[in-house]
Amino acid sequence: MALNAVPEVVTTERRHSVLLVSIDNPPVNALSVDVRRGLVAAIDAAEADGAVAAVLIVGAGRNFIAGADIREFGKPPQSPSLPEVCHRIEACSKPVVAAIQGAALGGGLEIALSAHYRLAVTSARLGLPEVQLGLIPGSGGTQRAPRLIGAKAALDLILSGRHVAPKEALTLGLIDRLGEGTDAMAEGLNYAQELVAARAPVRRTRDANALTDQETQRAAIEAARADTARKSRSLFSPMKIIEAVEAALTLPFDEGLALERKLFLQCIDSPQRAGLIHAFFAEREVLNAPETKAAKPRPVNSCGIIGGGTMGAGIAVAMLDAGLPVTMIERDEPSLARGRAHVEKVYDGLVKKGRLTPGAKAAVMARFTGSTSYDALAQTDLVVEAVFEDMAVKKAVFAELGRVCKMGAVLATNTSYLDIDEIAASTSRPGDVLGLHFFSPANIMKLLEIVVPAKVNADVVATGFELAKKLKKTPVRAGVCDGFIGNRILAVYRQAADHMMEDGASPYQIDQAVRDFGYPMGPFEVSDLAGGDIGWATRKRKAATRDPKARYVQIADRICERGWFGQKTGRGYYLYVEGARTGTPDPEVTAIIDAERQRAGITPRPFSDEEIMRRYMAAMVNEGANVVHQRIALRPLDVDVTFLYGYGFPRHRGGPMHYADTVGLSQVLADIREFAREDSLFWQPSPLLVELVERGANFASLNQSE
Ligand code: COA
Ligand code: NAD
Repeated sequence: MALNAVPEVVTTERRHSVLLVSIDNPPVNALSVDVRRGLVAAIDAAEADGAVAAVLIVGAGRNFIAGADIREFGKPPQSPSLPEVCHRIEACSKPVVAAIQGAALGGGLEIALSAHYRLAVTSARLGLPEVQLGLIPGSGGTQRAPRLIGAKAALDLILSGRHVAPKEALTLGLIDRLGEGTDAMAEGLNYAQELVAARAPVRRTRDANALTDQETQRAAIEAARADTARKSRSLFSPMKIIEAVEAALTLPFDEGLALERKLFLQCIDSPQRAGLIHAFFAEREVLNAPETKAAKPRPVNSCGIIGGGTMGAGIAVAMLDAGLPVTMIERDEPSLARGRAHVEKVYDGLVKKGRLTPGAKAAVMARFTGSTSYDALAQTDLVVEAVFEDMAVKKAVFAELGRVCKMGAVLATNTSYLDIDEIAASTSRPGDVLGLHFFSPANIMKLLEIVVPAKVNADVVATGFELAKKLKKTPVRAGVCDGFIGNRILAVYRQAADHMMEDGASPYQIDQAVRDFGYPMGPFEVSDLAGGDIGWATRKRKAATRDPKARYVQIADRICERGWFGQKTGRGYYLYVEGARTGTPDPEVTAIIDAERQRAGITPRPFSDEEIMRRYMAAMVNEGANVVHQRIALRPLDVDVTFLYGYGFPRHRGGPMHYADTVGLSQVLADIREFAREDSLFWQPSPLLVELVERGANFASLNQSE
């Protein structure tokens, strides 16, 4: 190979009468322009070579093809397009076989569907996940899949974006053969040679006939349309998917393809596509922190948990689910019994639903032990403290941990707000202490803030990231401050919501506006779900340090004083009749709000939903900018991932910082300056926001600089 030559991403080699076409484009064989060119050249070569009787397409490495190259979306298209490549493969006059291992996703499956025969080995995962990126399959997937497996199965696949294992793919008719071994190339060569020997014909998916029963197919389309209107009303691409699949029924193949292309390009241009693709890359980029580059994680094969309350039990389940043995420490035997019961309750729920057998539950619980003595932690690799949110209690726990734990054990605190530098200073080994901030319920929520105090060793931080992977959670690196990334920003936009409530918007209108923006719940519903007492306790703790000049809305306190803590007490901002999970507006709460407005001398004014969201988002983005400015978050994308995974931020908007870029930072700053005319203490523009607007730059520019 000549110096500077681009390595060949598609190579061909003749094996007897089969042309073996191998795609080798690390890391995941995405279909970038060189691969597309290589595939067309390979088909041309097969046509031209009289000794070739069949073509076999395989992927090198772990995957077949992970899909179109996502980095190319939104950039000027380069020829040949993927639909052209698919067409070229399907039109080949010699049988083309795809042999699949690992991912055959999106464009990867569309390539396989354009081949004439498909084989998959056990590692294969087939799917059309474009919907998760705000797209529709754009290279024949919406036309070929229904013709091959029927509209119902095709819609299920394309609307969910789920990955199908080979056995199911065979049942669906998505593949023709299940490979017995693990080597897709060897299996594929055997299959191709068999086909040649049998003089198997070219068999084009465009001519497949799974759509013959028109009535059933129509019913499937209408059902999907009704379901999508109900469940995905704020999303753009699902309805386009249905429109395209319907065309497979009503239009000739080529016209269907043309419509698919048109709809695909509409999706490419949509802001939702940009938001979802930002989320895709951001959730991978968060894994790159200075410590993960600099240090190797310490081995973690066992785990200790201090405290068996809400969080301790949830964290224990997360650890058990990841296969780790867990030792729980509690204050006394009754508390320990309660902690164990909390853990068992989760597994009992699964057994009840038929998702776990009693035997499997017993096997999991066999890895769980409890003790009231810290000495039980002597050999543990990692300990997570989840006791009361009280500095004195935490310090006492860490002093004990310093005494009993083996050297090299990682000592983590799950504190929500407390100063982890101070906690670390209470042990003899601050280099081993970090924050692992789980979210409730800890066995379900995907976010894990890895909080990095000043004296921690890099390998301890790297261990936090490695643990997140083991727990199948998304880690975000955060610096020490009151509330870290998520709760610190939450505290600010929650205040903005409280201000609006006192100024005239009802909590019900605010919740509705926030839901219409795309959140599953509004802030007052969340408060009722989490329990109003938690926020109340935090407010009381912070009362002494609150700036007396800062605006303080007392409505939440009035509600809590009545013992109305939300769902668990049957009422909070909403009324929950007989244990209902969704509440109804409460006239008594409205009366409390009115009284508080009067007490504060406020004449209520109307708010539009648009103004509510402008204020809510401006508060969130401004504090997000402060968090980045102070290096609490490494980049704006870390704030985005925190909110996507821990706070229900609508994924199609990419996260608050990405959203701010789409609105325009100068607009966000202008809003803040306008709001500051009423309350200049609360609405102080972040220095980073001001600087970016002055430079004409956006948050995305800071994502790229690392
Ligand atoms: N285009 C461009 N880059 C891609 C890609 C694609 N279709 N799919 C994955 N990558 C990149 C990732 O960004 C990552 O890059 P990084 O190492 O620089 O962060 C790298 O490939 C490895 O991906 P990762 O997800 O970390 O690997 P994995 O082994 O856990 O998972 C897949 C592999 C293929 C299952 C997963 O990457 C995936 O689902 N990809 C998207 C598939 C898709 O949506 N295809 C349809 C596109 S239309
Ligand atoms: P909780 O009151 O439900 O549980 C605390 C448990 O710790 C109790 O079971 C108590 O018996 C035990 N405990 C207290 N002192 C102890 C000691 N010295 N040794 C052993 N056990 C002791 O509280 P929680 O909601 O689980 O919160 C625990 C921690 O997690 C707090 O720091 C909190 O801020 C943090 N956190 C809570 C949430 C949440 O949503 N609840 C979310 C993230 C983080």
